[in-house]
Amino acid sequence: MTPLPNPYDVPALLKEIEANGMKLSEGGGQVRQQCLAAAQALCYALETPMESIIRTHWAEQAHHAALCTENDLHLFDKWEEAGSGIKASSELSELTGSDPSLLARILKHLAAMGTIYETGPDQYCPTPVSKALSMQVHRDGFPTSFDLAGPPVRKLHEYLAMTGYQNPQNTSIGPYQYGHQTPDDFWTMISKRPEMSVAVDNSLAGRKSHRLTWMDHGFYPVEDNLAGGVSGEEEAVLLVDVGGGTGTNLQEFHGKYPGLHGQLILQDKPEVIKQATGLDQSIRTMAHDFFTEQPVKGARAYYMSSVLHDWTDEQCAEILANLKFAMTPMYSKLLIHEFVIPDTGAHWISTALDIMMMAVFSSRERREQDWRKILEGVGFRIIKIWTAEPGAESLIEAELATEIPEHTTHTLTEADGASEAPDGIAQSGTEELVERRDVIAVESGMASIINADPSSHAPAIEASEPESESSPKTILLSGRPRLVVS
Ligand SMILES: C[S@@+](CC[C@H](N)C(=O)[O-])C[C@H]1O[C@@H](n2cnc3c(N)ncnc32)[C@H](O)[C@@H]1O
Repeated sequence: MTPLPNPYDVPALLKEIEANGMKLSEGGGQVRQQCLAAAQALCYALETPMESIIRTHWAEQAHHAALCTENDLHLFDKWEEAGSGIKASSELSELTGSDPSLLARILKHLAAMGTIYETGPDQYCPTPVSKALSMQVHRDGFPTSFDLAGPPVRKLHEYLAMTGYQNPQNTSIGPYQYGHQTPDDFWTMISKRPEMSVAVDNSLAGRKSHRLTWMDHGFYPVEDNLAGGVSGEEEAVLLVDVGGGTGTNLQEFHGKYPGLHGQLILQDKPEVIKQATGLDQSIRTMAHDFFTEQPVKGARAYYMSSVLHDWTDEQCAEILANLKFAMTPMYSKLLIHEFVIPDTGAHWISTALDIMMMAVFSSRERREQDWRKILEGVGFRIIKIWTAEPGAESLIEAELATEIPEHTTHTLTEADGASEAPDGIAQSGTEELVERRDVIAVESGMASIINADPSSHAPAIEASEPESESSPKTILLSGRPRLVVS
């Protein structure tokens, strides 16, 4: 019998923490993540089962109550405004106008849970967590996570029992409606309270603010893969942010890549677009329902961040089909910024969000095979999934799939202007080619590449001919089949 793995080996975990701890200063995010995972495993190892049960049943619930009270009292933001630093509990109760004996109890639990730091009897100082919670983007997480998501999450187990433990798939009579006792879905509910859509948008921006995003250098090659291939036309559109909220992501993109050619267009529901103020004037805003035909045709990229996880597979297929018909084959890209849950070792941020999505939207966070099924089903092909660190969203780069009939394959050789790759596959060496507006024309078994972008380099391969009538033909560009000549 295979022995059970022992994830709670204290000496081994201590060694791992020590080894990673030594490399923390130069090791970057990944070393920190490994160190943190080992430290968390160490806590689980040292905690008794009873402590663990009490932590989840009492401490975390009481922590939520203390945090929500702190937020209602504006405790942490008033503390920051009053110069931060060490303060007595009585001073903090004066700042917030609360009963000193009540606040003393709230502060004690916040300190016991690590949110603030106790410096003496009834005396505290802020921590990076309390300082972060003093910011509006994180304060907006309270109505979103507790008022909107709280009731369906708390009642999820009842809903699942009632529906025979089936994966929720119905967005109009799902756990959300059961938890809130309402016929409305999440989006209908917040459309009746527009201030809530700003809070949702802010809290999302806050959630992502301390993690790498695909726009950061070293994650996705924005200049090479996206901007490098944009058409030179004056009206060219570089990026359409579909369901882009109030524009935080496009604003960040513009800030990080200010000089790029091509329009940036923000799309969302009309009531959300109305709230999208203060954006750089180069960002165009447009009300658009993504369940209807995409009006911006032939953009370089259509981008969706944290959008598809709000919808079921069928609804995602509908949203993507509406985008597909606006896209130019071999030019337009689809960029999806979402979690791709790995088969093992999923980060708790993504698994927690998966349960939240189940409760709020009857939807899910997805694994790679789930993404492939949806995208391929609609006629997309995943080019690459870019992932920078665990616990952060990946960027799925996709394009329209070109059909490759099975009966025709031909590998380009040096004679075709291709260079021999180490694995024996002939590669065209024209990495840029597929990223530019190149059009491939096929005529009587001959493929020729017509350069539609005058600014791009001349293609390395002008034409290729079949070796014989019977030999199957595939043209490989950048080492992967792109076009088949029959
Ligand atoms: C979870 S938020 C993501 C916002 C933004 N992309 C981000 O990453 O911060 C989902 C967005 O989808 C928008 N949305 C929902 N239904 C929509 C629809 N039918 N058409 C267009 N946008 C919609 C919401 O208003 C919201 O801004």
